[in-house]
Amino acid sequence: MRSWKYVLSKLFKAVVTENKRLIKDHYLLTLSPLKKIKKNRPGNFFMISVESGLDPLLKRPFSLHRSTKNGFQILYRVVGKGTTILSNKTPGDILDVIGPLGNTFPVNNKHRNILVAGGLGIAPIFGLADSIVNSPGLEQPLLFYGARTGKEVLCKKNLADISIRPVIATDDGTAGKKGNIVKVLEKFLKSGSINVNEYSIYACGPKPMLKALSALTNKLGIKGYAALEQSMACGIGTCLGCVVHTTRGLKCVCKEGPVFPLNEIVW
Ligand SMILES: Cc1cc2nc3c(=O)[nH]c(=O)nc-3n(C[C@H](O)[C@H](O)[C@H](O)COP(=O)(O)OP(=O)(O)OC[C@H]3O[C@@H](n4cnc5c(N)ncnc54)[C@H](O)[C@@H]3O)c2cc1C
Ligand code: FES
Repeated sequence: MRSWKYVLSKLFKAVVTENKRLIKDHYLLTLSPLKKIKKNRPGNFFMISVESGLDPLLKRPFSLHRSTKNGFQILYRVVGKGTTILSNKTPGDILDVIGPLGNTFPVNNKHRNILVAGGLGIAPIFGLADSIVNSPGLEQPLLFYGARTGKEVLCKKNLADISIRPVIATDDGTAGKKGNIVKVLEKFLKSGSINVNEYSIYACGPKPMLKALSALTNKLGIKGYAALEQSMACGIGTCLGCVVHTTRGLKCVCKEGPVFPLNEIVW
């Protein structure tokens, strides 16, 4: 369990500077903390109070999407009560936040990095891509990005701005290849043109995608990591509501994650 001192050190108020609707149900929230906060790293997340009253009582977890000059951004989809309230926030509104929380993607400086995003998994994966691109000495990462439809392929301009041309697959074939992004990645890894030992994989997306990716990386012996999303009540290791089974026992996604080695997750 985290100490209260630790929690208080991560607690801050942030002002909404923009809350932009990107496409149906998808928003980009820009927050500016009212005090200096700890440095954000890709993989970190924030627990955000969407309302100052008691309903809803629990904060909601959101990944760091990208850091900005005066704060950070969250990319989110409206799925229920909390995110609906969040989508109605306007510039000047103040939110209570805890963070940055959680670990980061352990990028291998000697490897070529492959990033895999499924749907809203692009939220932390974009931040990771941005940080790799801006790290001197690291090679440009490859991005495999799956979405339900072409309309839900987000961050196209921001990816182009950092010279990343994603390999895209959509369920309905309206952008990129039709079908499953893990199958597209598998074809690339098995093409014979690359040495898989020189690659590491970093992913975020829906559980079925991560499970398939984990089976693939285990089969090919490639090192891989995934940022997991579990329902979270506290976000600070107190309620044990976010545990996952791993080969090293039960782990709290909020405290020991959210990033775990793919070969340690028991699906
Ligand atoms: C570490 C972490 C990072 C996350 N990052 C993002 C992000 O960058 N962008 C984003 O849009 N969402 C993200 N999520 C999911 C986000 O927290 C939930 O969508 C949000 O809490 C839903 O709140 P709600 O009140 O709108 O929905 P609720 O009314 O609480 O739930 C609506 C539906 O969403 C499901 N749901 C609720 N919480 C989660 C969850 N944690 N994971 C999966 N399904 C959930 C419920 O089962 C239900 O079906 C993240 C979750 C975690 C744990
Ligand atoms: S959310 Fe409470 S322990 Fe992780």
